[in-house]
Order: sequence, then C-alpha cells, then structure tokens
Amino acid sequence: MILELSKSSLKDYFIRGFQECRAQTLELLDSLDEETFRCLAHPDFSPVGWHLGHIAYTESLWLLERGANYKPMFPQYRKLYAADGLPKSERVQLPSIEETRYYLDAVREKVLDYLKVVDIEPQDRLWRFLLQHESQHCETACIVLKLINYQNPLPVVSTSPLTLSPEIKIRAGEFEMGSNSANALDNERAAHKVYLDTYFIDRYPITSRKYREFMESGGYQKAQYWSDAGWKWLQTEQIKQPLYWCDDGACENHPVMGVSYYEAEAYAKFVGKRLPTEAEWEKAARWDEQANCSRTYPWGEEQPTQEFCNCAATNIFQITPVNAYPKGQSAYGMYDALGNVWEWTNSWFDGYKEFEYYPYIGYSQVYFDNKHKVLKGSSWATRPASMRTSFRNWYYPYVRQIFAGFRCASD
Ligand code: AVJ
Ligand code: FE
Repeated sequence: MILELSKSSLKDYFIRGFQECRAQTLELLDSLDEETFRCLAHPDFSPVGWHLGHIAYTESLWLLERGANYKPMFPQYRKLYAADGLPKSERVQLPSIEETRYYLDAVREKVLDYLKVVDIEPQDRLWRFLLQHESQHCETACIVLKLINYQNPLPVVSTSPLTLSPEIKIRAGEFEMGSNSANALDNERAAHKVYLDTYFIDRYPITSRKYREFMESGGYQKAQYWSDAGWKWLQTEQIKQPLYWCDDGACENHPVMGVSYYEAEAYAKFVGKRLPTEAEWEKAARWDEQANCSRTYPWGEEQPTQEFCNCAATNIFQITPVNAYPKGQSAYGMYDALGNVWEWTNSWFDGYKEFEYYPYIGYSQVYFDNKHKVLKGSSWATRPASMRTSFRNWYYPYVRQIFAGFRCASD
C-alpha cells in the first residue's frame, strides 16, 4: 500500500513538473514572431526555434522510442533535431512556429499517456533528466533572445549598499562534493569527500562597480593581467568591455554579466586574487560545518523560489543586485550562489571517480576534453529544476554569450 502511494505521488510529481515546465516554454514560444524564431544570432548558438523542436525530439526519443518502444513519431525531424545531426549554423531551415507547436503537443500527449501505464520507478532518473533538458534548452533560448535584443530592457531593480565584509573565510577540512540524488545528472555523481586547505572566497559575485575599476585602469590594454591564452584571445577579439555591460549607475551593485573565462581570470589577477576551483566554490555554497553535511541549496532543502534567489521562477527576467537575497545565503554567508549569474571556476570539466554516462555519452563525457571550464550556480534564466549547488555547467573559456559572471578566491 505504501509502495502504491509513493508510486502515484512520483507520477503526480512528473505530471505537475512537466506541465509547469511546458507552460513556461509555451509562453516563450507564443511570444515569438517567425523571423525571431529562426534567427541565427550567433554561429555557436542554434536558433530559438531549433531548441524548441529539439526539446520535443529528445522527449520523443528517450521516452517514446527508447522507453515505450514506439516507432519514431516524426521521422522527418530526426536529422534536423538530433543533437549530432546538423552543425549549429545549418539549423536554420526550420518548420513554422505552428508546426513546432504541433510537434511539441503531439509528443507530449503520447508521453502523458505513457506515464499513466509505465512502471515509473526504474525510469525515475530518465524523467528527471528530460525535465531538466527542457529547462536547459529554454535558458539557451533566452541567451539567443538576449543576443538579438528581443526582450525589452526592464526597469532596474533598486539597490542598497553592500555592507557585509567582502570576503569569507572557509576553514580547512573535508566536505561532501557532488550528489547521488535522483535529480543529479551523470556528471554530478558520485558524491565524494574532498579535503581543502583554508581559503577565502568573495561573499558576492563581482559587481559592475568593481569591474569598472579594472576597465578604467586599462585592464583590457595591459598584458600583465592576462594569461597567454587570454591575451591571444583578446588580441583577436578586440574586446573592451563585457558583452552585457551596463553603464547605468543603477547597475553598480549588479553582477557583471557576459564575460569570458579569460576576462574573469584577468580581473582576478588585477586584484591580486584568483578564480576559485570548482570544489572551493561548492564548499562555500553548500557545506554546513555545524551540521557536518552538504546542503542541496545554499539555504537548505527548500525548493528555489523568488524568496531565495533570482531564478526563472520569478518574472524579473534580468539580473538583480548581489545582496538582494539575504535568505538565499549559504551557511558560510555566501550570497547569490544560485540564480542571477553563472560563475566561472578555474576547473576543467571532468568526470568524478566512478563516472558513468547517462543517458548518453554525448551528454557530458564527450566534453571531458580539458577544453571546457566548469561554471557553478545558475542564472536569472535558469529554471528551478536545474538549480542546485552540485550542478555543473561547462563552456569553452572564450564563450561570453551565456549569462556568466564570477567571484574571486585567495589562499
Ligand atoms: C550543460 C548547457 C552545456 O546546452 O550544451 C542540452 C546542456 N546538453 N542538451 C548544452 C544540454 C544536451 C548543455 N549545457
Ligand atoms: Fe539537448
């Protein structure tokens, strides 16, 4: 009886989760015109319309074909929407908004029918993966919209002075890194103990006010702050400010957003610090020294909402001051670890010990190439399903289109 109950509540959880997530996705879709829908804003980012079709394709592949053993529902879309189908810049010959909407609806209807009959427990991880897959592609769609300036600038959220000490000290010791929870993706597994010496980490992400000091003292002109790879990159790109630089005085306490790893690294050198390792970031964000355990979220176990952080559960849809969410601080007093902006770390993306790919090798493992840096946290465009302190994002160090900032650390 108890088993039956928990089975049906797991199914209810997925019904609700899939519907809530999809409602938000359709809101995004319905706000578009055909031109925006298929616009290639940048060669490294597929058009918004591709992301929406790929969401339906992936759901159909993993739940209907691989799960339920159904024949492919829309075989004509395979080549277009498969992750390993066409190069990104060739994903422009897209079905109309209406056809895409039909595709999403048709797949979803079958998926919900299948959910009624499936033995859900053995597929727990798979369904959670797909929920997060949709969320993640919607964040990428937001990036594309931002690149083409689709969203009108919204009024800036007001700011108050940063009054707390700028750095926090993390005493030497072990903490638990990674996660074994059902939501944890392949690259977060397995949970494991990591020992770190004492270090310091910034309480807040680097703000526009701070970053301006770097720009004004010639940060973008002086090779001394940059790594060899970073300087080389800068010479080719001829960049003078972050991609999403905000010059408005009202942005002073907002995190800097739209920097590459190289820019973050140069800033850290400028202030005589360094970027944190992934482990340093994670310990500061989730370790509760007193309870001797790691939290799922910086503030504890309650789901991310606008009470704790600036995430896509809010309607803010822009960055907020770094001290806007005191209830979201970690046990060590780290602010804004989740939400607002992703944060670059100086760690290369790699698998933890005993890594096993899931559900396919191309999700994480093909990126264990010492060419991708880990980003931690999440942004204002990340949905709660993908937000937790163990979550790992990864991009090439030169990428600045994503909603990324950083904070610094020191010994
Ligand atoms: C984790 C954001 C780097 O978009 O490339 C979506 C997520 N992987 N479908 C990406 C992903 C496959 C991934 N990132
Ligand atoms: Fe995908």
